[in-house]
Amino acid sequence: MADNGNGFEPEITVFMCIYCADMAADTAGALHIQYPANVKLVKMPCTGKTDVQYILNAFEHGADGVYVVGCPIGNCHHVRGNERARVRVSRVKKLLDEIGIGSERLEMYFVSGGMGETFARVANEMTERIRALGPSPLRELQSEPS
Ligand code: FES
Repeated sequence: MADNGNGFEPEITVFMCIYCADMAADTAGALHIQYPANVKLVKMPCTGKTDVQYILNAFEHGADGVYVVGCPIGNCHHVRGNERARVRVSRVKKLLDEIGIGSERLEMYFVSGGMGETFARVANEMTERIRALGPSPLRELQSEPS
């Protein structure tokens, strides 16, 4: 795995639905498309279950970046869960800017089950982005001696 010269390897939490997103991950696997081990996949019944608190908890527990992967708009198996998730992600992005963590550490993506290549590309892009940003300021704060 390449790094930006400082040896930093980001930890990234991915909240993904068990429908399109999980199928896309399986497709990536079936096609032998590799993506970085930096991403820790958390499967949700729907991205609509991705509570603001879950995202904040992920950062609090050491994630340097978080992203949410759901079904394409209009194709959520719970009708509008992905739309609700999109609104929440955008609210949390504002909050992350306000508290100095930075909105670029959070993103949302939409994939269909056959989009294994996109699933892997997103994992690569987010890993590169967070690697370039460096460790989460929250993580650095927590490692300071009290
Ligand atoms: Fe996939 Fe709702 S079931 S986002």
